[in-house]
Amino acid sequence: MNSKDLSIIVNGMQFQNPFLLAAGPPTTNGHVIAKAFDAGWGGIIAKTTCLESDKIINVVPRYGQIRSAETGDIIGFENIELISDRPLETWLGEFRSLKEQYPDKILIASIMEEYRQEAWQEIVTKVQAAGVDGLELNLSCPHGLPERKMGAAMGQNCQMTQEVCSWVKEVATVPFWAKMTPNITDITQPAKAAVAGGADGISAINTILCVIGVNLKTLRPEPCVHGWTIPGGYSYQAIRPIALRMVMELARALPNTPISGLGGIDQGTDALQFMLLGASTVQVCTGAMLKGYEMVSEMKQSCVAFMNDHGFESVRDFIGVSLPYFTTHSDLVNRMLRERKQVSTNSRDDDWAKTNRLSDLAAHLTSEKNVLLP
Ligand SMILES: Cc1cc2nc3c(=O)[nH]c(=O)nc-3n(C[C@H](O)[C@H](O)[C@H](O)COP(=O)(O)O)c2cc1C
Repeated sequence: MNSKDLSIIVNGMQFQNPFLLAAGPPTTNGHVIAKAFDAGWGGIIAKTTCLESDKIINVVPRYGQIRSAETGDIIGFENIELISDRPLETWLGEFRSLKEQYPDKILIASIMEEYRQEAWQEIVTKVQAAGVDGLELNLSCPHGLPERKMGAAMGQNCQMTQEVCSWVKEVATVPFWAKMTPNITDITQPAKAAVAGGADGISAINTILCVIGVNLKTLRPEPCVHGWTIPGGYSYQAIRPIALRMVMELARALPNTPISGLGGIDQGTDALQFMLLGASTVQVCTGAMLKGYEMVSEMKQSCVAFMNDHGFESVRDFIGVSLPYFTTHSDLVNRMLRERKQVSTNSRDDDWAKTNRLSDLAAHLTSEKNVLLP
């Protein structure tokens, strides 16, 4: 197979490849971040830090899972984990030594603070002085922190989002991305506010607020902490279609703003779809928790194979290439009629009456996978 240069420059940051680990358990301390760099990830976003880590107290258990009824494989994942409970000073020392050890890898710090200008500006100043290449503002954690008006409580409020980004812009000497919550009607609104406030890029999406299930023996919802729970953040493969839709909307609304796409990426072909819809980098969290850091090798191979198949020379060549093919439903109808395809050959009542298994009929109405148009 022909090898390809997978590097890409985004906001002045030179990534060896567009595959990044997202803020979360796979980037929970300097030791595992070094492992990720050794495995070949182009960059990482460290687990979110704040000024007062002693306020961060995690519960056990804090994860839940949905499995495929057929294979038993995990397809959806819930967490009620908070941001990092490690002291900022510890993180700053690790950022310094990681940049010394891995000068060519991109190290992005994820930060979150209360709704106070001094707090945001203090954490930005401290973290960038430790040598990180960029920042990601966590305006999107859906559980726990919103009770303190942090995380998603900010990202769901356009005015706060713009203001926080403008505070960061005043003191930032490195590029910063704003990480968006999907728990909102129109994700483009806070994203536009973030860019108006000075954000250099948008990361999307954080987890989707969910209730993973109720235990039918105990009658208690899960994950169950001494009998009680809260709604948590849903991630992994089940959320990918929603994440793809939101990345598409962001790329169309903000064509000049780099997007880092995430949500449900489990392999190279998943990542490529985010890039075709406009993401210039992609991030993985739950996939790496379940499959390990080595999964990046398959992602890189899959990207090279895809580029060879289509004759793309650089990663930039295919970012956003599938974006123009979204239109309105009435335009779809017109296109179908122009192609002289019949809307329906039989009366719909007959169709449904003829079958006992609705899935047989649904199969006729389902798009074939991987159909390539000329
Ligand atoms: C256990 C867990 C902890 C997470 N912690 C953080 C965090 O500290 N900061 C953050 O911005 N996102 C955090 N996330 C969200 C992920 O970075 C990511 O946005 C989300 O899980 C969707 O991507 P995925 O499907 O690849 O996991 C966490 C996710 C999980 C599953």
